Amino acid sequence: MPGHAQERTAADLLATFGGAPSPRPATGPGDHSRRDRMNRRTAPRRGHARIGHGWSPVLAPLPVYHASTHDIGGLFPLLGSRPTPAVGARIGYDVDSGGAFYCHPVELVLRGGYATNPNMALFGEPGRGKSSTVVAFLLRMASFGVRTVISGDVKGEYTPVARALGATPIVLGAGTNARINALDLGPLTTRWNTWSVHRQRDELTSLLSRWGQLLAALAESQGYAPTVTDDAALAAVLHRLVGATDGNTHLRPISIPDVHRQLAEPDPQLWHDLRYASRRAFLDQLRPVTDALANLISGPLAGLFDGPTTVDLDWNAPLQTMDLSRLRSRGDTAIAIALTCLGAWTSLATDLRADGDIRIVVRDECWRQLRLGPRAVATVDAELRLSRLEQTIQILVLHKLSDLLSVGASGSQAVAIARDLIALCSHRVLFGQSTRVAEDLADALALTGPELHRLTGAVNERRGRALWKVENHSAHLVQTVLSGFEKRLFDTNAQLRTRRKGR
Ligand SMILES: Nc1ncnc2c1ncn2[C@@H]1O[C@H](COP(=O)(O)OP(=O)(O)OP(=O)(O)O)[C@@H](O)[C@H]1O
Ligand SMILES: [Mg+2]
Repeated sequence: MPGHAQERTAADLLATFGGAPSPRPATGPGDHSRRDRMNRRTAPRRGHARIGHGWSPVLAPLPVYHASTHDIGGLFPLLGSRPTPAVGARIGYDVDSGGAFYCHPVELVLRGGYATNPNMALFGEPGRGKSSTVVAFLLRMASFGVRTVISGDVKGEYTPVARALGATPIVLGAGTNARINALDLGPLTTRWNTWSVHRQRDELTSLLSRWGQLLAALAESQGYAPTVTDDAALAAVLHRLVGATDGNTHLRPISIPDVHRQLAEPDPQLWHDLRYASRRAFLDQLRPVTDALANLISGPLAGLFDGPTTVDLDWNAPLQTMDLSRLRSRGDTAIAIALTCLGAWTSLATDLRADGDIRIVVRDECWRQLRLGPRAVATVDAELRLSRLEQTIQILVLHKLSDLLSVGASGSQAVAIARDLIALCSHRVLFGQSTRVAEDLADALALTGPELHRLTGAVNERRGRALWKVENHSAHLVQTVLSGFEKRLFDTNAQLRTRRKGR
């Protein structure tokens, strides 16, 4: 046909991807004659053109070549990597194979060999579709009875989703009297008497270490890095306040102002137990941490996390969200502190829930919290470590790797914890990134060259497209497909559009 490209043979194609393939080594003439004698042709060269008799679209015998698997890959470009099992939420399609792509982090752990933990980390520049993918995931997991807690929604994006599912969001900030005690005993109070003394001791130790971490992270948010001496003093104060040192059979409810009061007005027993020479020495040494806690009580978050909790998590709701959008005017640090307090509160409540069902805990905008400092990273790290035991899928939404690694000098312990945090998220969902950020990610997540190439290229072609990489398995390029209902519910650009129309 005029102008039609000349048909290429397999040999031509293979030569495009590597060296020209060699034909199969010829067998000796004697072999040919023997085979000819034994295998006489009983059918035409294309087979019989009849049903059940086989028919070959190309002339037999086929030419046979030898080539390496590397070159052969060029002939079969559509060979995909091993697909993930078709269980759980159907997210969208695998761009390479066109097949459906599913995600069920807990199943991937249970099926063995695929993932070691069910946690997910999503990385990507703003507006790439991270939160939309989270919403698609949790709505689709809801059909399997999996419920979700949004541990702090800075922009109030999840509120319409919760309302559409018939749940009432917890709204913190101006105009509401909702308050969450950062040092809440949560479900521990009701379950305490049902436990053996051994279990009570274990739970109390874990609770006090969480609170210690939280208070240290909060002090750090005020610009003071607590020392080991401060840690010891905070631990001693928490022990006393909760009633662990005086053989009390019930735990006493406490709050941040109680801790501050003990540090600011110590009784002789406290400074003596902590081996200070005098009350003055105690006050002088612990002044920075005491003042840091005082700032929390009187600062922009006053009244929100420093008194008894007035809200309750509804465990039966398919989606519980804590809307922080009314706190936005109080500044970035205040928001980050709020996320830290909520994170600690939700993880205690989620870990000790009675039903034993799988729960998704979403930490959207988690990068804000991690920027507070190494102690904040350590808090999230501790919460993630528990998740495999507690049937929780923790989802962290981050922008870039430096959100994690900027917490300390390279090679420092803080950076080591931050790298560990990535390892605690087997499921990494990588949305579009600039080249430099992508290179950092590729390094930390051991991405292959072609995966890095896609991260700065193919991933950016459409919103909601990402590389899904589960540990060291090869990544899948996946397009999240949102339903019309989901798009309407979660249109985070809606405000931009209305503003433009009103202009
Ligand atoms: N898969 C998708 N298909 C179509 N539209 C999408 C898809 N994913 C996201 N969008 C649209 O893109 C916009 C931004 O998405 P989204 O808020 O999820 O981004 P984000 O990465 O969470 O941004 P940020 O970092 O600012 O929170 C939304 O209006 C959303 O409707
Ligand atoms: Mg978002």
